[in-house]
Amino acid sequence: MAILPIRVYPDPVLHKRAAEVEEITAELRQLIEDMVETMYAAPGVGLAAPQVGVLKRIIVIDIGNDDAEKKRPHQLFKLVNPVIVEGRGETVCDEGCLSVPDIRENVKRKEWVKVEALDENGQPVVIETDGLLAICLQHEIDHLDGVLFIDNLSSVKRAMIKSKLRKKK
Ligand code: NI
Repeated sequence: MAILPIRVYPDPVLHKRAAEVEEITAELRQLIEDMVETMYAAPGVGLAAPQVGVLKRIIVIDIGNDDAEKKRPHQLFKLVNPVIVEGRGETVCDEGCLSVPDIRENVKRKEWVKVEALDENGQPVVIETDGLLAICLQHEIDHLDGVLFIDNLSSVKRAMIKSKLRKKK
């Protein structure tokens, strides 16, 4: 396993659409394991393949992997070609992203989602959830469409954050 470098805004790869995975190969499973290790090391609660520079529709999530809050149990998801097939309600959550360091903002999301995907063995997975896992799924799936959480903010707020990030760089 290997810890992969995480791409940081304004890296253009973060704004590209990732391609569907056609076949789950040994190489792809290795990438998934590397993504898991990278997420745990960061530490983060989710990671999408474009964040390590790979434009494939793969995400990993473990909402238990959070230093500040030890109450949540570990539950690791490795999802290939995830799709939100249903969503309901509205919620606002304070979000951050490994690719947008040191920025946290409230983002509007669906409160409940149903996600269909494949696991790393090509078996179908269905997740119906609310709470942090629902937020995290929406955040990571957005990454596969080249969307960062700051892209979901008002244009004024987004412009402020982008100029702050550019200055930092
Ligand atoms: Ni993110």
